[in-house]
Amino acid sequence: MNSAIRKFIFHDLQTIEGYIDPPDALVFLSLLQSQKKRKLGGAIAEIGVFYGRSYFLFRKIGGSDEKILAIDLFDIGQTPEGMPPQYSRFLENGRRLGLPVDEELIIRGDSTMLEPSQLIGKIGKVRFFSIDGGHMLQHVMADSRLAMETLADHGVIAFDDTFNPAWPEVTVGVADFLRKSGGAFSAFCMTKYKTYVCRREFHELYTELIANSVDLAAFDHVETEFLGSKVARLHNPISRRMVYELMIRSGMSAFSERAYR
Ligand SMILES: C[S@@+](CC[C@H](N)C(=O)[O-])C[C@H]1O[C@@H](n2cnc3c(N)ncnc32)[C@H](O)[C@@H]1O
Repeated sequence: MNSAIRKFIFHDLQTIEGYIDPPDALVFLSLLQSQKKRKLGGAIAEIGVFYGRSYFLFRKIGGSDEKILAIDLFDIGQTPEGMPPQYSRFLENGRRLGLPVDEELIIRGDSTMLEPSQLIGKIGKVRFFSIDGGHMLQHVMADSRLAMETLADHGVIAFDDTFNPAWPEVTVGVADFLRKSGGAFSAFCMTKYKTYVCRREFHELYTELIANSVDLAAFDHVETEFLGSKVARLHNPISRRMVYELMIRSGMSAFSERAYR
């Protein structure tokens, strides 16, 4: 078991305001480590950094040599002068955690205006692409096109906020992306918040990786069908979520990892 990284997920990551929760952090860990083990190379890219919760998870898993390209508007709290507070808080989180940000690979701007060649010129092909930027159809359409065109053959795209009634257009965007791909891409895993897709030729491989991951053994793996492919839905029972939340709120984050063994 990855005890140091699990400690990071259940303790340090909780100190950063943001959205990735333990089940998805454990899926990221399982996929990224399995890709490394199988020599499925490539960089990591993410759209939607916020204050860096997922960025620092990538850095912790990948180590200092991993190329991580991160894109965000970084305009939260912006005033006409000075550095945007969102960006300085992101950098500050990195300093505090001892996980510095590679600023050469940070793009401050609108992801929907980027061309695939701009990403490939900086990091080459991508093996893991997280999409969590703008949540309207136009964003998901543009971001999924960018991901598809920069993805290594064996690459994975993680879409955030799928099936979340607060953001219905994300679900439409992901379904459109899969259907327009004509079967070239298919989903292989879903959690409460995210949907993971890959090229059809790698569907079996990623299905097996998810099924056999020690870090995901705590979840019920429920076979689901989505647009013509089999998907492992990782179910996280409410009883565990409640125990976990209680531990976090009562300052016992160091022990919360045990709820997910
Ligand atoms: C939900 S937050 C991302 C959460 C983050 N992944 C985490 O783990 O905490 C969404 C982010 O997307 C950014 N965003 C929204 N629209 C964008 C766009 N068109 N281009 C780039 N970033 C965008 C916002 O600035 C915000 O920081």
